[in-house]
Amino acid sequence: MKTNFSFRRQRGFFSLPNDNIVKTIGVATLLCLLCSVIVSGAATLLKPKQVANKLLDKKSNILSVAGISDESKSIDELFSQIEARVVDMKTGEFTDAVDATSFDQRKAANDAQYRVPLSKQQDLASVGAISKFGNVYLVRDGENVSKIILPISGYGLWSTMYGFLALESDGRTVSSITFYEHGETPGLGAEIENKKWQASWNGKQITDDSGVPVLRLVKGGIDLSAAGSEYKVDGLAGATLTSNGVSNLIQFWMGDDAFGPYLERVRSGKTQAKTQVKASTFNNGEKS
Ligand SMILES: Cc1cc2nc3c(=O)[nH]c(=O)nc-3n(C[C@H](O)[C@H](O)[C@H](O)COP(=O)(O)O)c2cc1C
Repeated sequence: MKTNFSFRRQRGFFSLPNDNIVKTIGVATLLCLLCSVIVSGAATLLKPKQVANKLLDKKSNILSVAGISDESKSIDELFSQIEARVVDMKTGEFTDAVDATSFDQRKAANDAQYRVPLSKQQDLASVGAISKFGNVYLVRDGENVSKIILPISGYGLWSTMYGFLALESDGRTVSSITFYEHGETPGLGAEIENKKWQASWNGKQITDDSGVPVLRLVKGGIDLSAAGSEYKVDGLAGATLTSNGVSNLIQFWMGDDAFGPYLERVRSGKTQAKTQVKASTFNNGEKS
């Protein structure tokens, strides 16, 4: 009885004239419901693929800054040459307190368990807080570490810029830099993605002889033959504010409040690079 009644009511609803206000609102509501089910269903179904793609993207950025490429091999195959480690930012020592293959310092900076808020004076890169543990990716040449890759981030003009910096095994010579996420203006601040400009970082020195991070971007171009040019990179034309952001983030991440203690250990030979975690098992901390 009840079913017949509601069926009759439904039939009644659909047989209402099209310009009836109840029918218009009812049909619009039904359409909204249908669309939201389709959109949320698609989002749920695509989530694992999105996570996997994000991870592949991260790996390919690390490979790119490491200078590792081979079109005949998959990203995962190539990434097996990289060793993921985690350092305690305060002591600069490697730690096993977290799983190096899944730990993500960017996420951890927002996790109360790892978050270390920065004072205004400390926060040169305007990131607010960092994780007490940092990701380090080591490229090996047999037994020896040939490159050290560190995640970097900092505020430009409009956005937080995220990238990776690769250093030579001396812990102070730049091998390469890349930025993979930012919201700076195309043609101005977004030139941090320019490969030619990024190549100009090669061979620059992050720190002076006493270990203080001094590398910075200079407006108006640099004279490569002048003394001290190894500590200077060309600023981006028309984008001094983004350039200042890049200088600041280098000062911060290479300094005492971030990777400084670790790099100091590298420079003084205190960090032996024992193979611990093969990056082939590297994941994003997401449950598969
Ligand atoms: C629409 C617009 C977008 C801009 N985007 C950037 C940017 O992404 N990065 C930046 O440093 N400056 C940007 N600027 C320019 C800055 O306002 C500022 O003028 C510039 O950083 C000064 O650099 P300069 O001294 O090299 O000319 C933008 C300006 C405008 C009007």
